[in-house]
Amino acid sequence: MFSFFKKKKPREPQEEEQERIYEYEDVSEVMHYFEKETGITFEKQKNILKNKLTLFCKTNEIDSFKELLLILKKDAAIKQKLINLLTTNETYFYREFSQIKALVQNIKNKASKTPISILCAPCATGEEPYSIAIALLEDGVDMKFNITGIDINSQALQKAKEASYSKRHIGNLDENLQQKYFSLQDDKYILNEKVKSHVNFEKKNIFEPEFTALGKFDYVFSRNMLIYFDKATKHKAKSILESMQKDPSIGVFFGHADLF
Ligand SMILES: C[S@@+](CC[C@H](N)C(=O)[O-])C[C@H]1O[C@@H](n2cnc3c(N)ncnc32)[C@H](O)[C@@H]1O
Repeated sequence: MFSFFKKKKPREPQEEEQERIYEYEDVSEVMHYFEKETGITFEKQKNILKNKLTLFCKTNEIDSFKELLLILKKDAAIKQKLINLLTTNETYFYREFSQIKALVQNIKNKASKTPISILCAPCATGEEPYSIAIALLEDGVDMKFNITGIDINSQALQKAKEASYSKRHIGNLDENLQQKYFSLQDDKYILNEKVKSHVNFEKKNIFEPEFTALGKFDYVFSRNMLIYFDKATKHKAKSILESMQKDPSIGVFFGHADLF
């Protein structure tokens, strides 16, 4: 039958329809970039990194590790997302409590007239700075004190501000402390406002100048972060953290695993 319509020429595939080439093999460049930015090394965990990055790329429609690297260098939101994915924020109340006890004793001995400033770098989801606040309140320390918690992970800091914890995270606190400082809502333990009022949180990377711009503190805690750095980076971090002390003779409280 005669047709009025001309036969259509086959359409050229649009750019987005052309075959996409995926390349998720060599993690080295992204790994080195991530280490340069955060200090965290994956040199001994390349396969774990590769799996995490592959999933991250697929979820964010990024076709290759090369493309990921280009995006990371210009897109702060994607970079933050990756930092949140690749940092380990495990922590809990009264972790390595002997150091917190030593801090309380030191503060009591000094009997300072001016408010005491304490830095927790890093603080992850807040349990460490809140533990210090609880220990000071429990010991009846009557000086004013302010604790600053910093971390590079924005999601962890959000949780720190919410201060709502599961039973597992407060397990080291005895029943009396649990009841005194938390209220139970559903299965969450909500920290009371009095403890929260002593602590403030800021997102900082310890290797960036905005971290040292926080100024100097009477006491500096930095526990269980250096374990993610290689030897040279640990030393660099150590001297940055030591420079944040008002009185270097006190020494930074490092974690037991943060060996040099
Ligand atoms: C295991 S947590 C330690 C929390 C707490 N200090 C403790 O001992 O329980 C380690 C934290 O270090 C943070 N971190 C890693 N590199 C960092 C950097 N360059 N600057 C600031 N925080 C960093 C991570 O986001 C993570 O929350």
